[in-house]
Amino acid sequence: MVNDWNAEHYDNKLGYVSELGKGVISLLDPKPGEKILDLGCGTGDLTHEIAMSGASVMGIDQSVTMIQQARKKYPHITFIVGNAEELDMNQQFNAVFSNAALHWMKNPSKVTEGIWSILLPGGRFVAEFGGKGNVGVVIDALERTLSELGISTRNKNPWYFPSIGEYTSLLEKYGFQTTYALHFSRPTAMPDGELGLVHWLNGFAGSYLQDLDLPDRSNVIQNVIELCRPILYRNGQWYIDYKRLRVIAEK
Ligand code: BEZ
Repeated sequence: MVNDWNAEHYDNKLGYVSELGKGVISLLDPKPGEKILDLGCGTGDLTHEIAMSGASVMGIDQSVTMIQQARKKYPHITFIVGNAEELDMNQQFNAVFSNAALHWMKNPSKVTEGIWSILLPGGRFVAEFGGKGNVGVVIDALERTLSELGISTRNKNPWYFPSIGEYTSLLEKYGFQTTYALHFSRPTAMPDGELGLVHWLNGFAGSYLQDLDLPDRSNVIQNVIELCRPILYRNGQWYIDYKRLRVIAEK
């Protein structure tokens, strides 16, 4: 998982992540009094939305900077730093919710086992994250560019983007019953016109870029932009080729 996030960049340039997640809250359908965990809560915007339903919600994220920002924005909500691959909580929940976070967790078996262990019997797990083929155009462009420069791309991809079959099988292996699963394309408009893809790369593609010196980094970014432009840029705006997986599963 990624440890160190720029919470300001996330809120200022990538705020659409939380905006799009509001649809997943409808799937969660939180009720007053329910105990809910927001897994991978980031800076807490959706945790706050869930709290508005009257549910008792707690947010957890591995990033210290994200949790600091969440606490500053929503001091009335409990936010904790924690690793979803090693969930060890002394309480149980009616529901575990997660938006745009599970694809950063490369050990999905541990995550699923942990979610199962902290749900009450009859509890539900409701999530959206990147599904198979997610951001495929951007990944191809990054890997092609680095390979052409003779830079290995081995172990650089930080994401887990499963198919429906793969993910629902995993859920069933740990005892869940999947009651809803959807894999769909959602080309997503980036803010800031021409700069939209640069913001996305700087915010999310660090594992491909972090070892490059500044001139190489900006050459790689420029090349990725030109490779993606014919497919992802139209009418002055970038549309990232998001493919989402949504699930509801019951314990
Ligand atoms: C996503 O939300 O699908 C996503 C975000 C950042 C990197 C990769 C995928």
